[in-house]
Amino acid sequence: MTGRKKLFIKTYGCQMNVYDSERMGDALGARGFEQVDSPEGADMILLNTCHIREKAAEKVYSELGRYKGLKADNPGLKIGVAGCVAQAEGEEIIRRQPMVDLVVGPQAYHRLPEMLDKAGNGPVVDTDFPAEDKFTHLPRGPKAKRAPSAFLTVQEGCDKFCAFCVVPYTRGAEVSRPPARLLEEARDLLARGVVEITLLGQNVNAYQADGWSLARLIREMAKLDGLKRIRFTTSHPNDMGDDLIAAFGEEEKLMPYLHLPVQSGSDKILKAMNRKHTAEGYLELLERIRAARPDIALSGDFIVGFPGEDEADFEATLELCQEVRYAAAYSFKYSPRPGTPAAERSHVDEAVKAERLQRLQTLLGEHQFAFQQSMVGQTLPVLLERPGREAGQMVGKSPYLQAVHMDAEPELAGRIVNAKILRSERNSLAGALLKP
Ligand code: 5AD
Ligand code: SF4
Repeated sequence: MTGRKKLFIKTYGCQMNVYDSERMGDALGARGFEQVDSPEGADMILLNTCHIREKAAEKVYSELGRYKGLKADNPGLKIGVAGCVAQAEGEEIIRRQPMVDLVVGPQAYHRLPEMLDKAGNGPVVDTDFPAEDKFTHLPRGPKAKRAPSAFLTVQEGCDKFCAFCVVPYTRGAEVSRPPARLLEEARDLLARGVVEITLLGQNVNAYQADGWSLARLIREMAKLDGLKRIRFTTSHPNDMGDDLIAAFGEEEKLMPYLHLPVQSGSDKILKAMNRKHTAEGYLELLERIRAARPDIALSGDFIVGFPGEDEADFEATLELCQEVRYAAAYSFKYSPRPGTPAAERSHVDEAVKAERLQRLQTLLGEHQFAFQQSMVGQTLPVLLERPGREAGQMVGKSPYLQAVHMDAEPELAGRIVNAKILRSERNSLAGALLKP
C-alpha cells in the first residue's frame, strides 16, 4: 500500500480536455493522489466533460447516477464535474445531482486543490473566467515520464461565434499563452521523453502573444533539440496566415497534416453559420497550402442539417468534398445548443439530417479509404509510441497521423523508424520495420 489517495478521471470530448485532465491529474498528484483506471474504490472521481454536441449534459448525469452506489459504500468519496458542461450548467449540476461535491469550469481548475479543501463543508462551484494563466498556477507534480507524443495547449477560447457553437460561451474569449512559458513547458516535456508535440487551441492558428504568431512559435520550437515532430490543431480557415502556410513547406519537423474544418460547402449556409468565408475562398486557401506542401493530408469537420439547409446546399457540401478528397473527416448532425443563435431557428427534420449524414459519411469514407490504400507499397517514417494489440507488435504514427503497426521491440518506443506499408486495415496500416 502506498497510502496515496486514488483519483479516477474520465475525459470526454476534444484533445484539449485530454490535456486539461493531465494537468488536473498533476495538480491533484501534488496533493497526494495517484491516478487509477476505474471508479471503483476511488477517493475522488472527476468527470471532465464536453458540451459541443447533443445529450452531453444528459450523458454526464447518467454517468453520475452510476456512482451512487460508490458514494454509499464510501461516504468520503469526492465527486467533481469539470469541463464545458460544468461551465454551462454550473449550480444546476448540484441541484440535479446533490452528491456532486465540486463543479469547476475549464478556466478555473488551477483552484481545484483549494476547492477540494473547501468541499468538506458542502458543494463548491467555480465557473469564473479569471484573468491569470491557470497553467502557471498549477502545482507541478513529480516528473513522471510521458508517452512519446504529448499535447500542449497554447491558445484557448474563441472569438468567432459560429452560430451553432457553444465554445465561445464555455471556454470564453481567445487567450494565447506567452511563448516563453510554452518553450519552457516544451523543454520540460522533452526532458520527460516526449519527441512529438501537438500544439492545441480552439483556434490555434489565431495564436498571437508577445508579437509571436503560431508560425513563429513553431519555428522556434523546431529548434529545440530532441523534438522530432510538431503538429497543431484546430485551425480556422480565416486565420491561416501566409507565414503558417510557408512553414508547411519549410519546416521539416512540422508534419504534413492539417485539420481545417469548413462545416459546409454552401455559401448560403456558411453565411448563416457566421463562418465569414465562402466555399470558393476555402478551396483557394487549400490550393495555396497544397502548393507549399503537396503531400499534405487534409481533414475537416462537417455539420449536416444546419437550420435552412436544403438539398441543394447539402449537395454543395458533397461537391466540395469531392473536390478536396479529405484524408480524414468528422461529420455530425446539427444539434441545437442552448444559448447559441442557431438554436432559435427552425430546424431541419431529424430523418432528413440522418439521411444526409449517411450520404456524406459514405463519400468521406470512400476518400479516406482511398487515402489509406494509397500508402500501400510506400516507405513511411513512423514514430513508434506503444505496444500493439498483438504480442511483439508496436504501434506508431505516420507523418499523416495514420496508425501503423508492425513487429518491433518495445525499446523502440519514441524512435522514428522506416516502415514499408504492406496493407491497409480497418483503422490502421500494417507495416514491416525496415532495418536502418
Ligand atoms: N451541432 C453539431 N456539430 C457541432 N459542432 C460544433 N457545434 C455543433 C453543433 N451544435 C462540430 C463542428 C466543430 C466540431 C468540433 O464539432 O463541426 O468543428
Ligand atoms: Fe466554435 Fe466556430 Fe469557434 Fe470553432 S471557430 S470553436 S466552431 S465558434
